Amino acid sequence: MGTFAGRAVRKILRDVKSPRDAAVLCWRAMVPPDPRLREIRSRIWGNLPRVALREAFPGIETVDIQILEPYRRQLASTLDLEELSALLAIVRYTNSKNILEIGTYDGSTTLNLAANLPEDARVVTVDLPPQSAADQTAITVPTEHRNKTKHVIGERFLQSPHRSKIRQVFGDSAALDWTSLGLFDIVFIDGCHFQEYVLSDTRNAFAVLRPGGLVVWHDYGQNRHVTEVVDGMRSPGSKPSSQNGRNGSALPSGNGRTYVAISGTRLALAASARP
Ligand SMILES: C[S@@+](CC[C@H](N)C(=O)[O-])C[C@H]1O[C@@H](n2cnc3c(N)ncnc32)[C@H](O)[C@@H]1O
Repeated sequence: MGTFAGRAVRKILRDVKSPRDAAVLCWRAMVPPDPRLREIRSRIWGNLPRVALREAFPGIETVDIQILEPYRRQLASTLDLEELSALLAIVRYTNSKNILEIGTYDGSTTLNLAANLPEDARVVTVDLPPQSAADQTAITVPTEHRNKTKHVIGERFLQSPHRSKIRQVFGDSAALDWTSLGLFDIVFIDGCHFQEYVLSDTRNAFAVLRPGGLVVWHDYGQNRHVTEVVDGMRSPGSKPSSQNGRNGSALPSGNGRTYVAISGTRLALAASARP
């Protein structure tokens, strides 16, 4: 019996003394009292290998990051701190200088990306035009999947000293000419989560990705649309490589792309092959 299963059985034998105990244990396991735990328990979908950040990027543990106003984040709509830390560490580790974010929202992730970039780097961030109607998008999105923000888009960086590293673009990600935005080391996809949008954003992301670059999706494992698109994009037979790649990373290998999900987060990554 595996270690995890063995521990689970030993815990059940220790805690369960009656049918009532069993019912309470099952209920608590299904619906933990801590809302954060309940949220984490909803990250149940997807077939990508879940790897620790340190496994995907050996040596990343020595990377320092800066997080601005960590507890001013709207957790239901943005990255949690573990995810933000991982994304920023990846940016630093890969020495990325050109980042594209789809889905600006209040701009707190954009701001933190910019804060972790050198002066000559840039973040391009895209969101729907403020005056646009949520139902007038290039791809028809069912009402329940429309997520146009009600925030002032990018409000967190508008007055920031890091503003000079940020280019704000207003447009529908499915209607934009992505090639006019440039080429990118990292494309972070976190806009409309409706399946056809995620697919469209993903195809566009690969078109503007530098060789050796990374596409990063948010909400993998929790949102079924995102998860199905990423799983579908993963080339059959693609596995995390044991060979070292860029900076000793375990990610880029062979000719194709390598797909992994970062354990403990809703981040999925596709690493394109180096030139
Ligand atoms: C989950 S929020 C993004 C969160 C942000 N990346 C962060 O980490 O804080 C999704 C954003 O995508 C935007 N959005 C929705 N549909 C879009 C579309 N078709 N094109 C561009 N942005 C879109 C919404 O207005 C919203 O601000």
